[in-house]
Amino acid sequence: MTASTGRPTPTAELLARIPDFEQALALYRGLEPESAINLSVAENVLVYEGSMQKMIFANIDLLPEEYIHYATPYGALELREPVAALLAKAFDAPVSPDDVFGTGGVGSALECLAFALQSPPREGEAGPPPLKEGDAVLLPAPYWQGFNWSFEQRPKLKCVPVGLPTRGPDRFRLTLDVIKEAYFKYNRLFGEFPRLLALTNPHNPLGVNYGLPLLDEIYAWVLDETDMHIISDEIYCHSQVAGVRVPFTSAFALDAYTRAPERIHVVWGFAKDFGLSGFRTGFVVSKYGPVRRAMTGATDIEEKTHSMSWFTPVDSLKHYVLGEVLEGTVNGGTELYTTYAMRQYQEMLSESFEQVRAKLVEKGIDFVHTEGDNPAQFFWLDLTAYLGKRSGEAPCDPQKFTPPNDMDPDEQWLFEYLRCEPTEVTLLPGQTMHSPAPGFFRLCFTAYRPDVVCQAIDRVADALARLG
Ligand SMILES: Cc1ncc(COP(=O)(O)O)c(C=O)c1O
Repeated sequence: MTASTGRPTPTAELLARIPDFEQALALYRGLEPESAINLSVAENVLVYEGSMQKMIFANIDLLPEEYIHYATPYGALELREPVAALLAKAFDAPVSPDDVFGTGGVGSALECLAFALQSPPREGEAGPPPLKEGDAVLLPAPYWQGFNWSFEQRPKLKCVPVGLPTRGPDRFRLTLDVIKEAYFKYNRLFGEFPRLLALTNPHNPLGVNYGLPLLDEIYAWVLDETDMHIISDEIYCHSQVAGVRVPFTSAFALDAYTRAPERIHVVWGFAKDFGLSGFRTGFVVSKYGPVRRAMTGATDIEEKTHSMSWFTPVDSLKHYVLGEVLEGTVNGGTELYTTYAMRQYQEMLSESFEQVRAKLVEKGIDFVHTEGDNPAQFFWLDLTAYLGKRSGEAPCDPQKFTPPNDMDPDEQWLFEYLRCEPTEVTLLPGQTMHSPAPGFFRLCFTAYRPDVVCQAIDRVADALARLG
């Protein structure tokens, strides 16, 4: 621990042991020189700097006595109620606090769901047969690599990337056909059908919102033609820039949800939209009996289980601090702080996006984007033109990471070349995110103020120019 920051200082040996490359890069910050700019991790400084520090945190005392005690692990009603109200507003659909279950982060929420869906519905409850170990989960790729840890490590499901096209008019676009093709191909290869579809909307790393017609089409096919559940990870739902062509639509706002609520489950958390990644607070939102019982615990004789959140709780400290965020008001008490903060966030996000986009265009750095698409917090940089162009400069390597086994060597070289002196900019290599082709890098433009992100882009552009 460093006394000044309170953040743990990792060692190169420790980093080499972390299998999740993005997590290793998050901790790597502790080893970087001050001049380095790490845009590889999905974080968001805008809300804290914009208002949360001065409007909320500067005004609260730690710690009233009642908060040193045990708390309801999946969140007391006093916490779940305002969270349900916040989500109902963002989803433009009703959300009952009875269907909201808190956990220690969305990564945990996903893991809880992966376990819970392996329990059968009770007699009289609607729902497909339970999942079992080894069952396949379809994930449009690229995708956030944490799904592998949440679904595979302990629940023992199998993640199957559904590679989006990397060329042509549908470049990196999700379509029902791509999902269907992967679904039937899996069956041809393994004799079973996938049992779960996990969609991230808005998407990480592509940023885009999935449009209503596409979602209607996908959900209708899943419900009518398959036995799959759908998990919609909507952790970036407030991350919307002004004037997007395809607005965000929550899974809960679809007709499909009214038809089969037992097969559609949403997760959200405070890490991204509110920038509170260190708080590790996420929520499962589901009406499905097996999920409810897994999250709250069950006491009947045959099925005596403890709440899964007990092992990954929303603890009392989070209840206290998040309670202040959720109950805070502004403008003389006329507006909830969360409403104000998300409005201000969207303004700052739009400004940052425009500034960073202009810089990328000025510097001739390609990125995958269609005018009017939402970026969420990311640019998906297309550096394929630089693959294999190695300069005389060998990448430094004082702290070598263990990259994912199957990373393309040219992509890895480029990653190391950019993160080393004199550039010192860390981007997330796309193959960490199961990118179907090498040469794409995720840049998180909310990880720093836009002027700092623009400095980083200047440095990346200089480095790329040296490659010719
Ligand atoms: C799509 C997605 N889901 C979940 C998470 C993890 O959220 P948490 O930090 O709350 O576990 C991330 C973090 O990058 C993410 O991008």
